[in-house]
This record gives sequence, C-alpha cells and structure tokens, in this order.
Amino acid sequence: MAKDSKAGPNHVAIIMDGNGRWAQMRGRPRLFGHHAGAKRVRDIVESCPGFDVKYLTIFAFSTENWKRTQTEVAGLMKLFRRYIQREARDLLARGVRVRFIGDRVRLDDKLVNMMDELELLTRDNDKVHLTIALNYGGRDEVARATKRLAYDVEQGRLAPKDIDDETLPKYLDTCFLPDPDLVIRTSGEARISNFLLWQSAYAEYDFIDTLWPDFTPAVFEKVLDGFKARDRRFGAVKV
Ligand code: IPE
Ligand code: IPE
Ligand code: MG
Repeated sequence: MAKDSKAGPNHVAIIMDGNGRWAQMRGRPRLFGHHAGAKRVRDIVESCPGFDVKYLTIFAFSTENWKRTQTEVAGLMKLFRRYIQREARDLLARGVRVRFIGDRVRLDDKLVNMMDELELLTRDNDKVHLTIALNYGGRDEVARATKRLAYDVEQGRLAPKDIDDETLPKYLDTCFLPDPDLVIRTSGEARISNFLLWQSAYAEYDFIDTLWPDFTPAVFEKVLDGFKARDRRFGAVKV
C-alpha cells in the first residue's frame, strides 16, 4: 500500500543515468563513470533507512544496453560481479535484502550464480529491500510474464475469465514488490527507457539534471522532500 502523499515514498525506483557523460567531462573512459556510479549505489543504499525508504529499485543494465560496444558491456558485467563480491558482506550486515529482476538467460553463468548466492545470503533481511534490474526491460518482462501466464492457461491452472489487472503482476519479475511511489531519473533525460512500465502507472516521476555519480544522499533527500509536497490523487477527486 502506498503511504499518503505527505509521507515519504515507501518504494523509490531510480534510473541511474549519466555515468558516461560524467566520465567524458573529465576526459576519462566511460567505464570510469560506471565505477564512480557503483560507489554511489553504496551511499544511496546506506541512506535508505534514515529516509524511511523501505524499497529501493535501481536500473543497472537494460535489455537495450547490449547495443553498446563490447568493451563497455564486458566492463559493466565485470563491474556487476565485482560489486556483488565486494558488497555482499556489508549488505548482509546492514540488513539489506537483495533481489534481481530482468532476464537472466543472456547473462553469463558466473554472474548468475553470484546473483543467486547474494539473494540467498540476504533473504532473511528486512531493513531495506534492494532490487537490482539487470538485463531488464519493461516490455521484455511483460512478454515473458504473458508467456508464463499463457502456459498456465494451457495447463488448465488459470481460466481466461479470471485474468484481470491483479493476475498479470503476479507473473512479472516484480511480483514480490509493491509498486514504486517515486521514479527518479538522473542526467536530465526525461524518458523512462523501458523501466517498470506496468508498475509505474501511478508513480510520481522526478527527472533531475544531476549525473548519477554526483547523486549524493543530500541530493536524494531534496528529491524526497519534493515528493512529499506532491498531491497524489490516483484518479479520484478530493472532497
Ligand atoms: C547509465 O549511464 C548506466 C548504464 C546505462 C549502464 P550511461 O552509461 O547511460 O551514461 P550516459 O547516459 O551515456 O551519460
Ligand atoms: C537507461 O539508461 C538504462 C539504465 C540506466 C540502466 P540509457 O542511457 O540506456 O537510456 P537511453 O538510451 O538514454 O534511453
Ligand atoms: Mg544513458
């Protein structure tokens, strides 16, 4: 359940954009920006309990990001493995439960094993729920969900007449998550790039100019304050 509009968001989702431009501005390769970005993830996750943010979902790699150079893609995959390796113990100690969404089929086995292990390691944690979207695309997710749903119909487990807007989300990768209350995109681009299409139907959006490696907890706090000032109506009229 979403909290009322004067409360902070329970679930914040972030499109972490601008790493490449941040590096380019410094005359460095794009991967330098991705490394700086990974450090920010750590700070932001740590800041969540203080801001009363229970669920944090971050967009790390989209189904479209395979279109980048082989060097950048390989560098990112290596960075994801390193992030898991380096952060696992700390995430566990801080009470963070980590889960991944996205299609794992295209990811290499070593990375997938590490993702599985981190999910298992942190599964009893409940302080912050961190969801990492890796090889994630909203359309791909809906397509995969529909495939599973159709299979259940074929198997006689689900009748077409029983399918409604509460049925489909049970098949999405995010079935364990509440809908996001706030979606933030850094770097000044005002688009959602295939992120949480179904889930964000009533999310508040904030597109900010800050590049992801400059997104400090202080910037996060300002965005959260902005959210509190908004009036969420969900289609209703206030009386
Ligand atoms: C976001 O930063 C991180 C990923 C997509 C992996 P970008 O790499 O998109 O940075 P810009 O948008 O080119 O600056
Ligand atoms: C969205 O950023 C994906 C992630 C942040 C992982 P992109 O940089 O890939 O999005 P576009 O290409 O600008 O739409
Ligand atoms: Mg980008």
